[in-house]
Amino acid sequence: MNPVMIGPSILSADFRNLGAQVAAVEAAGADFIHVDVMDGVFVPNISIGFPIVEAVRAATNLPIDVHLMIVEPGRWIERFAAAGADIVTVHVEVDPNLYRTLRSIEEAGASPSVTLNPGTPVVMLEPVLPIVRQVLVMSVNPGFGGQTFIPAALERIRRVRASLEAVNPTCRLEVDGGIKIGNVRKIVAAGADTLVVGSAVYAPDVDIAAALHALRAEVELEREIREEQ
Ligand code: DX5
Ligand code: ZN
Repeated sequence: MNPVMIGPSILSADFRNLGAQVAAVEAAGADFIHVDVMDGVFVPNISIGFPIVEAVRAATNLPIDVHLMIVEPGRWIERFAAAGADIVTVHVEVDPNLYRTLRSIEEAGASPSVTLNPGTPVVMLEPVLPIVRQVLVMSVNPGFGGQTFIPAALERIRRVRASLEAVNPTCRLEVDGGIKIGNVRKIVAAGADTLVVGSAVYAPDVDIAAALHALRAEVELEREIREEQ
């Protein structure tokens, strides 16, 4: 079992103070920073691009996990890698040349990662499972922070975990969308080892360090139970 990693999504951060918001989660023990790139075409929202990845790169030594919610992701891989991405995730729904794109991520010096929306059959992932270093199971329809976790994602996490055990057991299994203190244990129990948290950590009335520590404690509790079994 991989150790569990927790990565805040800056989508919900206060962009007036981005450097401080990144430093705060790093000081509180975050394992990586998740950056959501949206194009207004694949998802009904437009977020951020290269300059913000560069700014995050300058603000932290933590790995930067770039989630591309854009059409034609293959056109932009080198630019995101050059901006500082350590992991680049592309959606199966928008890329007819997945092998080529995932290889180009590796060639650009980053870790290839693949994902799919909650309504896309998980079998779509199967051909590329042997060549990725991370699979992301979306647990909301992408586009916005603060949405509710879709319960059917748990079974999808179990299925992907079982497939990975057979073909790529060290591959990371990331989950993104609606992760909170009340459901994080179930998500880890289903087989996730990499957790994206947005609004559970970055919100006006939330103490960032306390929220991250509380999530970590829940995760550790679940892992201890699993290791005893
Ligand atoms: C949704 C993004 C997520 C989002 C998660 O499109 O991919 O990374 O920021 O935010 P929460 O944790 O608030 O659902
Ligand atoms: Zn994301």
